[in-house]
Amino acid sequence: MPGRPAELAARQRSPDCHCRQPHLAWLRLGAALAVVIPTGFIAVVTVVTVVTGVTVITVVAPCEELIMPPVPWNERYATNAVPWDTGEPDPQLVEFVAAGGVAPCRTLEIGCGTGTNALWLAALGFDVVGLDISSIAIDRAEAKRAERGLACEFLTADFLADPLPAGSFGFVFDRGCFHGFDDDDSRSQCAQHVAQLLGPGGVWLSVTGSTEGPARDHGPPRRSLRDIAHAIEPVLELVDVHTIDFHANLPSPARAWHIVARQRDVPAQPSSV
Ligand SMILES: C[S@@+](CC[C@H](N)C(=O)[O-])C[C@H]1O[C@@H](n2cnc3c(N)ncnc32)[C@H](O)[C@@H]1O
Repeated sequence: MPGRPAELAARQRSPDCHCRQPHLAWLRLGAALAVVIPTGFIAVVTVVTVVTGVTVITVVAPCEELIMPPVPWNERYATNAVPWDTGEPDPQLVEFVAAGGVAPCRTLEIGCGTGTNALWLAALGFDVVGLDISSIAIDRAEAKRAERGLACEFLTADFLADPLPAGSFGFVFDRGCFHGFDDDDSRSQCAQHVAQLLGPGGVWLSVTGSTEGPARDHGPPRRSLRDIAHAIEPVLELVDVHTIDFHANLPSPARAWHIVARQRDVPAQPSSV
């Protein structure tokens, strides 16, 4: 069920700005224009300027159109602005599998990028579907798969808007996809889709940028524990959340969350009052 064109266009944009800056542009409106502040603009500063005896009110407001949009995912891949794409399987995934967190089973990687993790799992005998919204990433993943002669299915799809892959999965992995959804509703929808896809006893491992660690102007988007619980707890049981470093080609390490959630046997019960 595809989303509205504006929603799809928004999702194609990458909030995963590894050179993230506050891109607030400011629009100055003269007195004549100050009368109307179009919907979506929020006046934050009002100053009074005196020009040759005439009082001019200047409204300074952030203008939605002038806020630089995040770069679309395909463009990130086309220009190789992809510091997460290390060519090595994620250390959290490697440790999780080595520790017996999951055994070979039907597996979905959401936001699989160029397929590094999906193909690593496939080589271990996991039956993997990798999906990504970026067709360029999926073409690269498919080329690697063919070269290595591995069995792994790659799909170009929007995990929030497109029909979900058929069947259920024992394992869902994501590294940097969940954290890219930058509003509560999108993260909740992502978690609901994961819950819908996991079979009994199924687990989701997510590597998600964290609000821990010092201020930085690079690295993955930051999500708080509250953001994570808000999205995941209603639909899945959170069994492990701990702090790690995000493995990527960055000027300095960025803190991240190692999140494990599993299919619930019984629904979450209401909090006591
Ligand atoms: C930070 S990258 C990580 C890629 C890959 N997991 C890796 O570790 O190399 C996040 C990925 O999520 C994909 N993505 C973002 N939004 C998506 C969506 N709505 N549906 C599917 N993939 C999405 C992006 O295209 C991108 O490849």
